[in-house]
Amino acid sequence: MTAERRARELIAKAARIVVFTGAGVSAESGIPTFRDALTGLWANYDPEQLATEQGFRANPSLVWDWYAERRRRIADVQPNAAHHAIARLERAKPGLLVVTQNVDGLHQRAGSTDVIELHGNILRVKCLEGCGVVQQGWQDDERSPPRCPRCGAPLRPDVVWFGEYLPESALLRAQQAAADCDLMLVVGTSALVYPAAELPFAAARAGAAVITVNPEPTPVDEIAAARVPGKAAEVLPRLTAL
Ligand code: APR
Repeated sequence: MTAERRARELIAKAARIVVFTGAGVSAESGIPTFRDALTGLWANYDPEQLATEQGFRANPSLVWDWYAERRRRIADVQPNAAHHAIARLERAKPGLLVVTQNVDGLHQRAGSTDVIELHGNILRVKCLEGCGVVQQGWQDDERSPPRCPRCGAPLRPDVVWFGEYLPESALLRAQQAAADCDLMLVVGTSALVYPAAELPFAAARAGAAVITVNPEPTPVDEIAAARVPGKAAEVLPRLTAL
């Protein structure tokens, strides 16, 4: 049996599905990964300057501008066939949960209704000093970055920077779902960044079947019941046409 046929069968008979996604699911929408986006004006910077709290405190307007540019690029692109296939699968399999490492909001734009964002969302901001303000829009008061409406501290992107903890309730719910699902579909992630990368292994330990969709091999292949090589936007519509 081909891996693709096996994957289709596993999806068809699964009752509780978790779809775990990474940058690869958004590749065909034209969103560069963090590292690939470090080109042009940004080529001289490294992740420690642009995606750490220390970097932000050292140069808030530089980091704000970098995220503003990434936000603009995301606003200009559309969810692709992979996001749409996942949203359609949710309608066929009620209770399906998406757990994503992406910060681009494209699963929600495609219609997925239950999405755990392990690494935050680039369209949201929060107070740098943690006074509790988290919001989707903000007043552009010509300062870069704009200020927290409650305490006046700078606002920062609500994404998980290097060296930061994942949002606790999101991680706990994702771990619980991994332990409770009967199928985890792992799409477009290198599965190298922990603790997110632990989820497929936790699912397999708890008895779930794991399927990987990725043009490249990843560490999850070792425990996968089916490894489907290829691009998410090409493979997923075929796998989920139930
Ligand atoms: N379809 C499916 N997978 C793809 C595609 C595609 N069209 N194109 C690339 N990929 C795969 C690559 O082979 C790779 O395994 O997507 C994966 C992308 O890996 P990473 O760039 O490491 O992205 P991700 O796994 O999401 O990284 C996790 O690391 O950079 C931090 O916080 C960031 O959330 C991110 C985390």
